[in-house]
Amino acid sequence: MTIGILGTGYVGLATAASFAARGFAVVCADVDEKKIALLQSGKLPFFEEGMSEVFAAASIPVVFTVDLTAACQCDIVFCCVGTPSAADGSADLSFVQSAAQTCADVAPNAIFVLKSTVPPGTARAMTQYVNGKLRIAANPEFLREGCAVQDALNPSRIVIGADQESVLLVLLDVYREVNVPVVSTNTITAEMIKYASNSFLATKISFINDIANLCDVIGADVQSVAKGMGLDDRIGAKFLQPGPGYGGSCFPKDVRALMHLGESVGVPLRILEAASAVNADSQRMPYVKLVDSLGDLHGKRVAVWGLAFKPGTDDIRDAPALGLLRQLLIDGSVVTAYDPLVVSLPTEFAAVARCSTPIDALQNADALVIMTDWKEFFAFDRVTILAAMSGTCIIDPRYVLKRSEVMVQ
Ligand code: UGA
Repeated sequence: MTIGILGTGYVGLATAASFAARGFAVVCADVDEKKIALLQSGKLPFFEEGMSEVFAAASIPVVFTVDLTAACQCDIVFCCVGTPSAADGSADLSFVQSAAQTCADVAPNAIFVLKSTVPPGTARAMTQYVNGKLRIAANPEFLREGCAVQDALNPSRIVIGADQESVLLVLLDVYREVNVPVVSTNTITAEMIKYASNSFLATKISFINDIANLCDVIGADVQSVAKGMGLDDRIGAKFLQPGPGYGGSCFPKDVRALMHLGESVGVPLRILEAASAVNADSQRMPYVKLVDSLGDLHGKRVAVWGLAFKPGTDDIRDAPALGLLRQLLIDGSVVTAYDPLVVSLPTEFAAVARCSTPIDALQNADALVIMTDWKEFFAFDRVTILAAMSGTCIIDPRYVLKRSEVMVQ
């Protein structure tokens, strides 16, 4: 069976890598010539641990091409194109529409599987959009950046949404060797599972961020609270790490899109509204704490450790650090920044001095803010940090220093 992939972002490439690792012939297509040229030369357009190795080890080399037709003519076509936020918060489905139309034109009746995160109802709407010329299914992906390949190869579950029995059977067959629970349902339910999963995880993060604020004020230790809660397997320990809000290309966008869907059908999602509001406050919290501590930030020297939205990736989409940098530059602070993977920042941050080590970033700093919990930051303690900077203000929304103290004990 041949696998066609449309789109070479995280989802597209991790999907391609996982099928290639299972011995399928994979054709991966994208309209972006630069990305395809990079992939053809054996390089990835982003950092992702272990992905290049999987491509290099594939028994049938993955074909990377700008020829969408070649991918559309495969036995199954996985649509992995982006679904960014539109101005009103809804998901912009124009890339999905265009991929579906291309596929309908060159391979009528193809099995076209939505792996992109799409609002519930999209598979059915797309079927109408292409006048029934495709058999459209939903097979959402649950991989995380930073461990995308592992997640794609060893998923927690496989969700297959199909409105036709024949399509369901083909998808069950393509995953037959993956020994994990399978939820097979209709397309709209499968699409909802993905949105509900991301929204629940985002809510869990906002919940613990709210609790963290209260703990800080009353003198309780949120790390121990999270540990104590997480040992109850009805709650679970994961996604209870407080921080400067959830970021990245998924949670903020998907929460917005689900709220938009709820509003559009008269079912406001009040818990998500609260989670989203808490997240906006959490993202701003490091800045508020800096102002509380230093007053007017004009001319103050602020070091920022970590720019990526989380460790293990060079992705800065919706990264909480960028909001902080933007505000610091508006206030006229002198900003230094260190991140082990993020190479370049958008031009609006040209005034941020990039440093090649965490200690370099601290020279003459009045304050340090730790925005990403990179593993290497856990090697530092307060004494070492304070010795390298001028001031004494350390803002640590990821609780890196507290966590490293616990690790040392
Ligand atoms: C997320 C989901 O975890 C994946 O299951 C999903 O497939 C993916 O979105 C997607 O829809 O494509 P990802 O965006 O890679 O994956 O990142 P996460 O690891 O979920 O982290 C998201 C944000 O939450 C980060 O900013 C992270 O720092 C923050 N976070 C996470 C916390 O603040 N605390 C936690 O305990 C966990």
